Amino acid sequence: MKFHGVFEPPGDKSISHRIALVSLLARGECAAWNYSTALDCMTSLQAVRSLGGHAVFQNGTLRLRGAEGNLRESATVDCGNSGTTMRLLMGILAGTAGRFTLVGDDSLMKRPMERAARPLREMGGFVACGEGGVPPIAIVGSRLTGIQYTLPTPSAQLKSAVLLAGTQADGRTELIEPVKSRDHTERLLKLCRARLYESANAWIVEKSDLDLPSTFSIPGDPSSAAFFLGAAGLSKGSVVTARGMLLNQTRIKYLEKYKEMGMDVDTELRGDIPEPWGNATVRYRGRLQPVEVEPHEMPLLIDEIPMLALLATQAHGKSLFHNISELRIKESDRVAALASELGRMGAHIEIVGNDMAVYGPTPLRAAGLLRSFDDHRIAMTLAVACAISGVSSDIDNPSCMAVSYPAFLRTMAELTK
Ligand code: S3P
Repeated sequence: MKFHGVFEPPGDKSISHRIALVSLLARGECAAWNYSTALDCMTSLQAVRSLGGHAVFQNGTLRLRGAEGNLRESATVDCGNSGTTMRLLMGILAGTAGRFTLVGDDSLMKRPMERAARPLREMGGFVACGEGGVPPIAIVGSRLTGIQYTLPTPSAQLKSAVLLAGTQADGRTELIEPVKSRDHTERLLKLCRARLYESANAWIVEKSDLDLPSTFSIPGDPSSAAFFLGAAGLSKGSVVTARGMLLNQTRIKYLEKYKEMGMDVDTELRGDIPEPWGNATVRYRGRLQPVEVEPHEMPLLIDEIPMLALLATQAHGKSLFHNISELRIKESDRVAALASELGRMGAHIEIVGNDMAVYGPTPLRAAGLLRSFDDHRIAMTLAVACAISGVSSDIDNPSCMAVSYPAFLRTMAELTK
């Protein structure tokens, strides 16, 4: 099936979360444009409100008023399906006065939170996880002191929790990041005039008064766009442009992989405030080559692996994805989900230790009811798998796509008509 046309992906999910949540610590007012309407981002807004922050939509513009860390004395916050909301809030609440409990849906209640709690406790925070290091999270806001901390896993959520706590801690917090991950928190903190400095592979942050930018325009989400841009690389005559998309290098590594696989990829930078953004176009160029994802590249591709794995089923040869363990603790175990559901459609996927191999090309066929495991990125990958192979299979709970991309099916229909 041909994919053809121009679309605007929803506002970037990671940036949307951050501007909303940072308003809990910052002062001033901000008009944020193109805030994502994804369910996860609505969860962050609801969290801000339930903690005493101020966030309202006026004619599509999100108006935030900074709470300067003066939050409700106690609150239970429902973080829904959103790991980003929960982990960033842990960093924010560890240093603000009050008693807080963080809970989430069935998926989030099983996800590891101890990784974020540990450094916050080292800083003097009272942050307790449930048995097994999962939610509920109990936090009593405390006086924090800066630490030196080396990230044991390359995770932007974990990094963000420590940096956000660091803006409230006495002394300096030095965060060493051996492997790079998305850098939106660092960029936003700088924009809010935090005392944040970069040195080699470390970030140093000191106690800071944060000022919200008065306006903030959120570019389109490249992780959402990845599905349609990738689909364009599969069939003759396809060409798809994502307009107004975030072009931050820590988020568009997948375009390099698409190129390596043999797609024709063009980006056009149109601006760089608050982050680089522009248009990205992918054209079909010919048959796909296999791809290899090295361990250090995994954090920069983490949300696009499901789509890359689907593309690998159509590439000529063996694709290899190293260091896939983090994929097992996302909204679902994405390794198991891909192997089982794409496998049922005819894909040849092997998991050996911490690596995943995909052998292609394999024609994909209908396989009865496909399971999304209530995971938005699995559901969208399966929807593209059906579209590119011209099969019609039902996907269970397709509404979970709204967690990151409410208009996904509508946009897919427009690009394939
Ligand atoms: C995110 C970071 C990533 C990513 C998630 C959003 C963020 O998670 O998978 O969808 O906004 O910081 P990890 O940092 O845990 O890998």
